[in-house]
Amino acid sequence: MTDNFAHRATDWDKPSKIEMTDIFVAALLREINLEKQWKAFEIGAGTGLVGLQLLPKLNTVVFEDTSEAMLSVLKQKLTGAEAVEIVHGEVFEYTKQDVDLVFSCMAFHHISDIDNTLKHLYNITNAGAKIVVGDIRTEDGSFHHFEPIPHKGFDTEELAAKFTQAGFKVLSTDTYNTLKRERVPGVVGVYEQFMLIATK
Ligand SMILES: C[S@@+](CC[C@H](N)C(=O)[O-])C[C@H]1O[C@@H](n2cnc3c(N)ncnc32)[C@H](O)[C@@H]1O
Repeated sequence: MTDNFAHRATDWDKPSKIEMTDIFVAALLREINLEKQWKAFEIGAGTGLVGLQLLPKLNTVVFEDTSEAMLSVLKQKLTGAEAVEIVHGEVFEYTKQDVDLVFSCMAFHHISDIDNTLKHLYNITNAGAKIVVGDIRTEDGSFHHFEPIPHKGFDTEELAAKFTQAGFKVLSTDTYNTLKRERVPGVVGVYEQFMLIATK
């Protein structure tokens, strides 16, 4: 499995990423009343900037990511006493059917097969489970410096239709943040981040 984040992992936790994930966490907490008995599954958990903030409010967090390097930074933050599971690989590696909450911040655009990912999420979640996905709306490719990635953001109507097709009920797809980034010299790009909330 190619680790596209290997060269970025050790300096991932910089102020811009911490701010971005803090904003996601705040938006999630405004929308979802977390329950202490819940088991959560984080897709593209990276170095744990989101999941480690939510862990104290949950029973267990499963941190899933395809990047061994990002997960290695996460592991360095753990004492061994936390109720966590770490899954290195695609979501399909996790096959238990016990998840109450799925969350993901800025990882969905890196996932090639969204349809099968959503089908799999349906299989691993409990009835009534909540799904919270934060990502960027459709952009011109500049956000990733025109590098090839699976999705240049998402049209939330299309993404919501895929969730519905997989069996979920989509509750909202509101914008929760706007990023301004100078990806092209002299041009400040504006990238809207949406939060898709769905339930099973
Ligand atoms: C932009 S980073 C976001 C990391 C973290 N969620 C955060 O906000 O700090 C995207 C993450 O998704 C992971 N990723 C890429 N493709 C993936 C896939 N198919 N399944 C799961 N994770 C993936 C990357 O390794 C990386 O850690």
